[in-house]
Amino acid sequence: MSALFSPYTLKGVTLRNRIAVPPMCQYSAVDGVTSDWHLAHYTSIARGGAGLVIVEATAVSPEGRITPGCTGLWNDQQIDGMARIAAAIKAAGAVPGIQIGHAGRKASAHRPWEGDDHIATDDSTGWPTLAPSALAFGGCLPKVPEAMTLEDISRVQADFVAAAQRALAAGFEWLELHFAHGYLAQSFFSAAANQRTDRYGGNAENRSRFLLETLQAVREVWPQHLPLTARFGVLEFDGHDEATLQESMALVRQFRQQGLDMLNVSMGFSTPQGRVPWSPGFMVPVAERVGRETGIAVATGWCLDDPQMAEQAIAQQQVDLVMIGRAHLANPHYPLQMAQALGLDTPAAVLPTQYAYWLSRYRGPGTGSAQ
Ligand SMILES: Cc1cc2nc3c(=O)[nH]c(=O)nc-3n(C[C@H](O)[C@H](O)[C@H](O)COP(=O)(O)O)c2cc1C
Repeated sequence: MSALFSPYTLKGVTLRNRIAVPPMCQYSAVDGVTSDWHLAHYTSIARGGAGLVIVEATAVSPEGRITPGCTGLWNDQQIDGMARIAAAIKAAGAVPGIQIGHAGRKASAHRPWEGDDHIATDDSTGWPTLAPSALAFGGCLPKVPEAMTLEDISRVQADFVAAAQRALAAGFEWLELHFAHGYLAQSFFSAAANQRTDRYGGNAENRSRFLLETLQAVREVWPQHLPLTARFGVLEFDGHDEATLQESMALVRQFRQQGLDMLNVSMGFSTPQGRVPWSPGFMVPVAERVGRETGIAVATGWCLDDPQMAEQAIAQQQVDLVMIGRAHLANPHYPLQMAQALGLDTPAAVLPTQYAYWLSRYRGPGTGSAQ
């Protein structure tokens, strides 16, 4: 029996196994509307066997896009394309999830393969950015954002709510709030990015306020029987990790009290100074600790595609789900490869019946019926 290939139930949703595809931007939308590329991409990945497929960071407002090619759910015209993607993921046997977010001071950037840097201020393809304070991220993202007014904060929180409602209308059954990676919500939490002197800045309680209010507002519209989760950077790898983790875990406990069902444990990326210790499965012990000390269900990823390592992380109850990203880009059937590496009865463990039947039963011409 494989722990990795055992089903997992959260609220009213059951995943066929513990493999989740994390959000991965495709930078291929026009005005936030998905293209045929998105449909082809998500269909092939969902067909590959993962239990959960989370659609990429989808902006709650135009200025919340990372790049001009990011998907959005800020208007009703964007629902149709997303509905086709959600239906295709579901038809392939995976649960359709989506991440919604606002890129804050990291918005208005070129697509990664076009430079990944901020679009020049005088270039009409870019736009003014918003953040808790008028402080640039730095490095290749030098644009100074506008410090948000209280009206801006209320408007963006309302945008999160409206995007969640559109995600539901599109048929998604799993919602992930993007509270990570130096984007708007994470930068409210980061003392390095947030130097406000009002009730949204200063001590940890104030720096947590934007995230807690946003969660609370979304929880009111997202159905109780469907998982509401968040991706959050619990540390920055900047030399202050124990202090940041303590602050983060205090916030995660409040997330849990407010009805968050799972945390996708990640890193902050709030400044360019972080020194990430890239190595296989390096986030697993961090996620395990967050889960144990806060009591919330946890997922994590980052270089966690080694089959035995992923199996062990689930079997030893370090995490509830493993997020496997780039390996799916190289091979959409990566879960099949993992099952084979674990010596499971493949392909029945992973593939849809329409495929699995033939691969395990068909013995060649002349056997059975004349297919
Ligand atoms: C092309 C690409 C796009 C990504 N887009 C997002 C995103 O939209 N939201 C997010 O939280 N993380 C994003 N990430 C990070 C991935 O979700 C994941 O954490 C990362 O790829 C590490 O996992 P892996 O080692 O299994 O690939 C992206 C990564 C890649 C490679």
